[in-house]
Amino acid sequence: MARINNSLRAFVALAMSVVAVSASAPTNTAGDLGPGGTAPVRPFRLDQVQLGRGLLQEKRDRIKEFVQAYDERRFLVLFNNQAGRPNPDGVEVPGGWEEGGLLSGHWTGHYLTALSQAYADQGEDIFKTKLNWMVKEIATCQDIITARMNNSNGTKETNSNSTAANWVPTHPGYVGALPEDTVLRLGPPRWAVYGSDLSKNTWAPWYTQHKIMRGLLDAYYNTNNTQALDVVVKMANWAHLSLTVGDKNQPGYTGNLTRSDLNYMWDLYIAGEFGGANEVFPEIYQITGDPRHLETSKAFDNRESLFGAAVEDNDILVVPADKIPGRRRAQRLHANTHVPQFIGYMSVFEHSGEQEYFDAAKNFYGWVHPHRHFVHGGSGGNYPGSNSNSELFQNRDNIANAIAEDGAETCTTYNLLKLARNLFLHEHNATYMDNYERGLFNMIAGSRADESSTESPLLTYFQPLTPGSSREYENTGTCCGGSGMESHTKYQETVYLRSADGSALWVNLYIPSTLNWAEQGFTIEQETEFPRKDTAKFTITGDGPLNIKLRVPAWIRKGFQVTVNNSPLPDATVDPGTYLSLSRTWASGDVVEVRMPFTLRIERALDRPDTQALLWGPVLLQTLGAPPANQTYHQLSLYRHLKLDGDYARAAAVQVSSKGDPVFTFAGSDGNLTARPYYVGDTQAASAYFRRVEPNIVFGTFDTKIANRKRNDGLPRYDIPVANVTSPGNDGPTFLDIVWDSAPFETHDAFVGTVEDVVKSFVAQGAFTQEEGETIVKGATGAKDELEV
Ligand SMILES: *[C@@H]1O[C@H](CO)[C@@H](O)[C@H](O)[C@H]1NC(C)=O
Ligand SMILES: *[C@@H]1O[C@H](CO)[C@@H](O)[C@H](O)[C@H]1NC(C)=O
Ligand SMILES: *[C@@H]1O[C@H](CO)[C@@H](O)[C@H](O)[C@H]1NC(C)=O
Ligand SMILES: *[C@@H]1O[C@H](CO)[C@@H](O)[C@H](O)[C@H]1NC(C)=O
Ligand SMILES: *[C@@H]1O[C@H](CO)[C@@H](O)[C@H](O)[C@H]1NC(C)=O
Ligand SMILES: *[C@@H]1O[C@H](CO)[C@@H](O)[C@H](O)[C@H]1NC(C)=O
Ligand SMILES: *[C@@H]1O[C@H](CO)[C@@H](O)[C@H](O)[C@H]1NC(C)=O
Ligand SMILES: *[C@@H]1O[C@H](CO)[C@@H](O)[C@H](O)[C@H]1NC(C)=O
Ligand SMILES: *[C@@H]1O[C@H](CO)[C@@H](O)[C@H](O)[C@H]1NC(C)=O
Ligand SMILES: [Zn+2]
Repeated sequence: MARINNSLRAFVALAMSVVAVSASAPTNTAGDLGPGGTAPVRPFRLDQVQLGRGLLQEKRDRIKEFVQAYDERRFLVLFNNQAGRPNPDGVEVPGGWEEGGLLSGHWTGHYLTALSQAYADQGEDIFKTKLNWMVKEIATCQDIITARMNNSNGTKETNSNSTAANWVPTHPGYVGALPEDTVLRLGPPRWAVYGSDLSKNTWAPWYTQHKIMRGLLDAYYNTNNTQALDVVVKMANWAHLSLTVGDKNQPGYTGNLTRSDLNYMWDLYIAGEFGGANEVFPEIYQITGDPRHLETSKAFDNRESLFGAAVEDNDILVVPADKIPGRRRAQRLHANTHVPQFIGYMSVFEHSGEQEYFDAAKNFYGWVHPHRHFVHGGSGGNYPGSNSNSELFQNRDNIANAIAEDGAETCTTYNLLKLARNLFLHEHNATYMDNYERGLFNMIAGSRADESSTESPLLTYFQPLTPGSSREYENTGTCCGGSGMESHTKYQETVYLRSADGSALWVNLYIPSTLNWAEQGFTIEQETEFPRKDTAKFTITGDGPLNIKLRVPAWIRKGFQVTVNNSPLPDATVDPGTYLSLSRTWASGDVVEVRMPFTLRIERALDRPDTQALLWGPVLLQTLGAPPANQTYHQLSLYRHLKLDGDYARAAAVQVSSKGDPVFTFAGSDGNLTARPYYVGDTQAASAYFRRVEPNIVFGTFDTKIANRKRNDGLPRYDIPVANVTSPGNDGPTFLDIVWDSAPFETHDAFVGTVEDVVKSFVAQGAFTQEEGETIVKGATGAKDELEV
């Protein structure tokens, strides 16, 4: 029974009238809509870029096939239940976590985003038709639920799962797949915790609200659906009341939420992890001009622990058991739900201009990259002595000892890419795009199975790093299944960016695509088979001045070349990890060609340099098969193949698969090893890391017979101990590692000079005797022919 007294009625009426005014109020913050809309560098609308044929289009089309075939009515079943509306016979809930349990609604949000992105890309009506229908139905549910506030006969039933649901909301505007109560109970006076009891627990209610709101905003941005905007503004008004007035009809209610109450809520494991909820409200503030929405986004500032620590750059992602900040946070923080909080802080910064929000996001990103960053672009995992929840962040600087079977959740990478992109829009530091590219072409591309299905999204959850493990694809109704539907329908979103004044075009990614930049009168077509091939050709249509900034990837080792209309650039020196400016007055038909030779490289884990990965340009390679039973890792010895240019391609034979993917063969100690791109989406056992075994100092086939010792310097010290692992450990770089880090060598004399210098430092530290040092230098000198290119 709802008891709405007169004063409460007046309050509700007032709140509703504010809704009406604010929704039609003019925009009061300048800029374009959506993330980055007020930044100095801004995204294009998704429908301004079309993806061309290639690897990513193949992945996209498989997801589009699924999204298109899926019966959208299934997403409405739970919403209708909450609105007390009937459902058609035989239409089932999607399943997974979208089945009536406490995370329900999140997948509906992801699906809305995926539909609008799928539509933006090629404009097929089917996606818009499905989207419009869903938005209309959700709007109806919202209206029905809110209207119950005026019914005198509603009940306060909280876990209703039936078509007769008629619980009465506390505040107007709520809509979801679950009763409003599952959100409100997180706060005072009940402080619900994570669990599965529908009548008293909660899962991650604000995470869920965010997904639905994001889906509606994306529907508005990508397809101009104004009804979606109307629904999301009402949801935002509801959110404001829930986070200020709170659970006012609850016995024991003591008044508006305080900052302390909010801090207490957000520090709670899972239940309080609000994901990117704070991201949407500043955008709604921009659209409506209603400052309450900016206030709502700030309600999510976790000022008791994480937010303040991030502003101060005090890395507290994992803390010792006796030094846990705040009143009830866990020792280790959850990766996927905390990354998007900083995407939200970026949004607050973009619409309030308050620097501390930017600083928090930038500093947090710095804790993950490089300190917790695996070679495929992921983060998070277990380590010896930690609890066994690999969805959590590992301790700082732990890469080699955090390699886990079920670490590196795919949706964490989805969120890290968003954060890197948003930071780039403000700072234009190419490192963000190097990281974005790594995550996109490896983990994200690799998250989708290379087969078609209209039954399952065939997406990964964890992307295991334990050598010899295989990926699993399914994920209906999970976080990663949701963010995956999004990732594969927005491959065009970061290929190009533009300066706010339209004078510069940033070309960040080499992906076949066409940019239609009507505002500046340019169309730019990029033809490339990247990452299967290492060239790209841009054809410009349109006339006038424009500064085209081409990304020079950090992985370039040699021979990056750019020609304009077949003429090489006069000043041809380029720095990998920067942008190259082509600022000129362009004429229709101008052609820019880029050659960016891929090389075979290794990358070392920062805490254990003999734990390594093979990369081909931007592409991580995985060795196939499980390591032999007596070894944890595949082992490779590679230095004997190197010549003065230091090119690891000499260590492998390469072939091209029927798809055009490179396949390398290495002679391993346990037989030949096949290595192929990480993005190949099948279930073969494979390893992203191998163990480098270089027992002796060799120069080509010449073996000095002297052990290739380690100097044991420069290793990071774990902030939180790893059981049974000495920190910083004695796994430092070897003599040959240090020598070859200086490659390429112009001449054999230069090589010998480097060997002499490194020998000197090893002798000085007592790692070699004087005599051993002399033998090594003699070996290097004598190996002239061996090392000559
Ligand atoms: C809610 O409904 C779903 C099916 O629609 C069912 O699987 C689930 O068990 C129900 N939950 C409760 C608490 O009745
Ligand atoms: C309740 O009824 C009043 C009077 O008809 C109306 O002004 C108000 O908007 C209604 N409130 C809701 C939440 O529907
Ligand atoms: C009581 O609820 C039913 C449906 O739940 C509705 O049809 C009826 O109009 C309500 N009565 C009043 C007085 O609001
Ligand atoms: C949405 O509206 C804008 C401005 O009217 C227009 O430029 C854009 O093409 C429209 N987008 C879609 C997907 O209809
Ligand atoms: C409670 O919050 C609302 C805003 O949602 C505000 O209008 C009201 O003044 C607050 N009440 C108190 C006592 O602060
Ligand atoms: C540490 O080593 C001991 C002795 O080998 C072993 O019993 C224990 O399980 C190890 N601890 C962890 C966390 O691996
Ligand atoms: C870009 O970011 C990287 C990584 O944080 C940093 O090392 C580098 O100094 C930055 N570059 C510039 C130009 O700020
Ligand atoms: C594993 O066994 C093979 C074959 O017996 C042997 O060649 C190899 O050295 C062993 N590896 C290790 C790490 O013991
Ligand atoms: C290993 O690969 C090399 C080419 O890299 C080839 O010549 C050799 O036959 C292969 N060995 C086996 C056992 O397959
Ligand atoms: Zn996930």
